[in-house]
Amino acid sequence: MIERQDKDRLVAPAPLKEEQEQSDTSLRPQSLDEFVGQQDLKENLSILLEAAKKRNEASDHILFHGPPGLGKTTLAHIVAHELGAGIRVTSGPAIERAGDLGAILTSLQDGDVLFVDEIHRLPRMVEEILYPAMEDGALDIVIGKGPAAKSLRLDLPKFTIIGATTRTGLLSSPLRDRFGATFRMPFYEEEDIVQILKRASDILDVSATEEGLQEIAKRSRRTPRIANRLLRRVRDYAEVREDGAVTKDTANDALQKMDIDAFGLDTMDRELLVNLIEKHGNRPVGISTLAAMLSEDEGTLSDVVEPYLLTIGFLKRTPRGRVATDRAAKHLGLSIPATT
Ligand SMILES: Nc1ncnc2c1ncn2[C@@H]1O[C@H](COP(=O)(O)OP(=O)(O)OP(=O)(O)O)[C@@H](O)[C@H]1O
Ligand SMILES: [Mg+2]
Repeated sequence: MIERQDKDRLVAPAPLKEEQEQSDTSLRPQSLDEFVGQQDLKENLSILLEAAKKRNEASDHILFHGPPGLGKTTLAHIVAHELGAGIRVTSGPAIERAGDLGAILTSLQDGDVLFVDEIHRLPRMVEEILYPAMEDGALDIVIGKGPAAKSLRLDLPKFTIIGATTRTGLLSSPLRDRFGATFRMPFYEEEDIVQILKRASDILDVSATEEGLQEIAKRSRRTPRIANRLLRRVRDYAEVREDGAVTKDTANDALQKMDIDAFGLDTMDRELLVNLIEKHGNRPVGISTLAAMLSEDEGTLSDVVEPYLLTIGFLKRTPRGRVATDRAAKHLGLSIPATT
């Protein structure tokens, strides 16, 4: 059984929000050209934006979904930048009442982008205000109470909503349907992560060898935010222990000390897999059982921890629950008990 060390968790799920935001902004690409990887997504997105610009209209509403740290917030800012539009930033949990959203919507200017992060967390009442706003560009307000109440329809400026969510499953279907363009963000290719690390080491003025960056890329769970974070930690290590240069060896040593293995798995991932294989004899286990065993939130497991394990073929979702694969067992040096 692997000891769980929360203080050592570096990879999944969320780091301290403030640290994350600070480091995110300095490295955030500003334009589609600077945005590395995700070729298909970029192509489709640029067609959408070009067309909107040509027609001189606000773009269709856009939804980005996918695991944390892949660039949803970054893309929202890039879209506004490419459209030459202003951007207002808010998030699902920040809008508590219908009136809050009304105030935001009426203060928008023609062509503005309204970025709603964690859009799955919008309260139901607020969501209902959003439907006519997205579809007809109108705000319905009710004045007065009881039989004397009157409904009034206000025309809104032409705006584009960009929603971001790690949990599409939680988005109601009427809301999902109102986005003209939906982009699922897949994990990055390893070469793209190397490019992202190159760019980051230039910006942060870190001297690094190609092999050093490749080593970090391999363990970054194909996620730009994690790559950038590991780069900083390896740089710290290199500065304190060595001469400051990020080489294959310093990267290797530093990452090993952080308990991040060759696949980028941390203690939580390993604990999940070991649990499945050893405690359950790799019979399918439901997400709620798994969450209870790991004292982790179900949503975090299914949206933050599992997607990467599924992508690298360490985990399978079956109709009856999750099972670990032979590949995972081999990596952990365990043998999968024969199922009966
Ligand atoms: N394609 C990319 N090229 C270069 N850097 C990137 C790219 N995508 C993301 N990054 C880097 O990763 C960081 C995290 O990206 P971002 O904040 O946009 O992720 P997110 O999908 O919004 O995550 P969350 O779901 O946690 O809000 C950015 O600050 C940026 O430095
Ligand atoms: Mg974000």
